Amino acid sequence: MGRRSCGCGGTSRSYPQCWHLITIPRMALPTLRRKPPKPAAQSRRSVAVQRLAQTRRRTTRFDPLRWTSIAPEGNAGPVAWNERTFVKITVIGTGFIGSTLGQALSDAGHQITYGSRHADDPAAAGTTQAVSPIGQALLDAEVVILALPGAAVVDLTAEHASALANKLVIDATNQMGADVANARAFLPASVRYARAFNTLGGENMADPVFSDGRADMFFSSPSGDRSTVETVIEGVGLRPVYVGEDQEAIIDALFQLWIALAIKQGHGRRLALRLLES
Ligand SMILES: NC(=O)c1ccc[n+]([C@@H]2O[C@H](COP(=O)([O-])OP(=O)(O)OC[C@H]3O[C@@H](n4cnc5c(N)ncnc54)[C@H](OP(=O)(O)O)[C@@H]3O)[C@@H](O)[C@H]2O)c1
Repeated sequence: MGRRSCGCGGTSRSYPQCWHLITIPRMALPTLRRKPPKPAAQSRRSVAVQRLAQTRRRTTRFDPLRWTSIAPEGNAGPVAWNERTFVKITVIGTGFIGSTLGQALSDAGHQITYGSRHADDPAAAGTTQAVSPIGQALLDAEVVILALPGAAVVDLTAEHASALANKLVIDATNQMGADVANARAFLPASVRYARAFNTLGGENMADPVFSDGRADMFFSSPSGDRSTVETVIEGVGLRPVYVGEDQEAIIDALFQLWIALAIKQGHGRRLALRLLES
C-alpha cells in the first residue's frame, strides 16, 4: 500500500483534485496515472462550451433579417449586433480593387452593391454580384468605396454630386504621377472623406495575412467615422491603424513608400507595411 502526495498542503479534500488522503494499492498507481478519472461536471462543461461556440458560429453569420445598420444621419458610427457590425457598402468600380474589396467585404457579411457603368451587363461589369447603375447604387449606401481611376472621380461628381453629398466616402484611388494622388479635391466638399486601401497592391488586400501576421492598413477619416472605417478595413482582413482626420497626405506618402519599395527597389508587389509597438 502507498500514499500519494498531491502537494496541496492538505488544504484540498475534494476528490479527485486531492489524492493525499487516499490510500491506494501500490500496484494500481500506474493504471490510475495513465487514466485519471474524468470528473463528470467537467465533461458537462466542455459540452456546454462546445455548444456555445457552435451557437456563436451560427449566429455571427450574416443574417439579413437581423441586419443592424449605421444610423443614417450624423456620424454615429456603426451599431454592433452580437459582436458583429454589418455595413451597407457601395463599391464604385468592378475592376481589380473594386472586386477584391467587394468580395472580401461580402464574405465578411457586409451588404455590397457595385456601382458600374455596365450595370445591365454583368459580363462587362466583371461581376455577377449585385451591380446597379452608379446613381442607384449610391442611394442608400452607408459607405462608398471609390475603386475607379482617380481621374474619373471628376465625372463621377459631375453626375452624382447630390447622391454623394454627406456620405462617408473611402477613397482608394491613386493618380500615379500626379502631384496629389488622392481624389478629395474632386469630391463634393460635404462628403465625409476617408483615405484607405490605396497604400498596398491589390493582391495584398486579397490575401492580407503574411507569415508573421496580417498587414496594417493605415487610414485617415473624420474621427466620428473612425470606427466605421475600421470595421470596413477589418472586413477585408487588414489591421486598421488610424492616422487622424484630414491626414490623406500622410497616407499618400505611404502609397509612395510602397511604390518605392515594391516597384522601384524591386522588392516585389507582395509587400505590406506594419506598425510595431511595445
Ligand atoms: N491595382 C492596384 O493594386 C491598386 C491598389 C490600390 C489602389 N488602386 C487604385 O484603385 C483604383 C482602381 O484600380 P484597379 O486596379 O481596380 O483598376 P481597374 O481594374 O482598371 O478597374 C477600374 C474600374 O473603374 C471603372 N471605371 C473607369 N472609369 C470609370 C468612370 N468614369 N466611371 C465609373 N467607373 C469607371 C471601370 O469600369 P468600366 O468597365 O466602366 O471602365 C473598372 O471597373 C485606381 O484608382 C487605382 O489607382 C489600385
